[in-house]
Amino acid sequence: MEATGYPQLDALLPRLAAIPTLDAQALHVERIAVLGRKQGALTFALRALPTFAAEERKRFGAEANRVKESFEAAFAAREYELAAQTAGAVRPAIDLSMPARGRWIGAIHPVTRVVDEIVGIFRELGFAVAVGPEAETEWLNFGALNFPPDHPALDMHDTLYLTEAGQSDEGRVLLRTHTSPVQIRVMQAGPPPYRVVIPGMVYRNDPWDASHAPAFAQIEGLAVDEGIGLVDLKATLTHFARRFFEPATKVRFRPSYFPFTEPSGELDVECQICHGSGCPACKQTGWMELLGCGMVHPKVLQNCGVDAERYTGWAFGLGPGRTAQQRYGVPDIRLLYGGDMRFLRRIAGQDPA
Ligand code: DAH
Repeated sequence: MEATGYPQLDALLPRLAAIPTLDAQALHVERIAVLGRKQGALTFALRALPTFAAEERKRFGAEANRVKESFEAAFAAREYELAAQTAGAVRPAIDLSMPARGRWIGAIHPVTRVVDEIVGIFRELGFAVAVGPEAETEWLNFGALNFPPDHPALDMHDTLYLTEAGQSDEGRVLLRTHTSPVQIRVMQAGPPPYRVVIPGMVYRNDPWDASHAPAFAQIEGLAVDEGIGLVDLKATLTHFARRFFEPATKVRFRPSYFPFTEPSGELDVECQICHGSGCPACKQTGWMELLGCGMVHPKVLQNCGVDAERYTGWAFGLGPGRTAQQRYGVPDIRLLYGGDMRFLRRIAGQDPA
């Protein structure tokens, strides 16, 4: 602090400046020597008070108070400093033996993980990735894919309609019920050949139960070129199934129906839980459905302006949620799409990667 202009007080200032150098013992002694009520140096200086005239007395009193406060602050600061040093000498300021607080740093969602893996397998085979909007027109979601109006196949594709009828040639806008409309978008965007996989979310008026979700992921595949036949479909999808599961995994193709493929089929893989002997997960059949597939219907190619005499192709559609269930042995699809962090944490912890 700067000088007060009173020699009685200023004489104390060098002692104030020296406080930060004192050790604990000296600090204790000095505090009494300066602030002690009877013998303290400040008390002594205050004896000069009655010798001042009334006005001057006030000023001297105020200055004396400032000096006192400065001493008190300096004593307290030095005391704190010494105490901190002592504590530090006994044990480190950080307790290294304290268990760390558990930290959740996040993980890739199991369905996303399966999508990435499937896309990766097809990338090795020369497929590119395409995506499309979740709000589609009736034409792209149904018409261009050769769904006849009022066909029973539409029953499984009830969804939310976002616009009224009659607003455009392409019909109403709806939440897409499958990723297949992106096949149309890919083919309309340029000439063949096409080799694409198409991941995305789709929406249906389905119940929220152990095997259904009203919003779920799909991956679509499309390969169109000259001279592509059913053997390419079977060979590619069998290779995919064995890369994704195990090299010796048994697969089988069953006939099925989709308006946009002809012939159509479904690919089953040996149940990954019981390996074919039958269990509740595969309803005792030993098989699990993996995907729908087929040769692209010539009508669909024509709807996209692709010459169906020259080009042929195959397509597939797969639900990576179902696939994740098989991969991780998840009995209820709501666990995958329900966002329960306890389940997601556990499954992330189970994962070797
Ligand atoms: N879009 C069909 C569905 O969601 C799945 C599907 C089946 C897609 C066969 C295809 C296919 O491309 O060839 O039910």
